[in-house]
Amino acid sequence: MADERSLSRRKFIGYAWVGAAAVVIGELIAGTLAFLWPKKKGSRGEQILIAGKAGDFKAGEVRYFRKERVYVQRLEEGFIAFSAVCTHLRCIVNWNEVKKTFECPCHGAKFNRKGEVLEGPPPRPLDLLKLQVVEEKLVVDFKTPVERKKFEPSQILKG
Ligand code: FES
Repeated sequence: MADERSLSRRKFIGYAWVGAAAVVIGELIAGTLAFLWPKKKGSRGEQILIAGKAGDFKAGEVRYFRKERVYVQRLEEGFIAFSAVCTHLRCIVNWNEVKKTFECPCHGAKFNRKGEVLEGPPPRPLDLLKLQVVEEKLVVDFKTPVERKKFEPSQILKG
């Protein structure tokens, strides 16, 4: 009787080990597949911001998209989008509506409306973001910021 009980206990422990190993192997396979499998839905959408209808932007309007850390503006010449991340030590710059400047709270940098450094330690303008109009809407690619040395008219999307 004791041997039967002992055997069943051994079998139980053996099954438990096999079960645990199957769970671990299954998780490894699922994790590997999830890592290797290309994301079909949303992979592009996650890096694109729809900033609204181009025609709805008022002259001089500045819109901030907090989640994406993006500024989109309508200047006299057209539209421009850039990252709100300061090019000094990556603080988030704020728009000062009165002074019409972007200001960094960390070390006092100021940027003009085109993202150029007016004062402070940043080594370059705010990083430019690709902007295009798709079906009348402004679409910003905010995951691929472009470093620039200075503002150039070609950085404006005419509109
Ligand atoms: S992080 Fe913006 S000025 Fe230093």
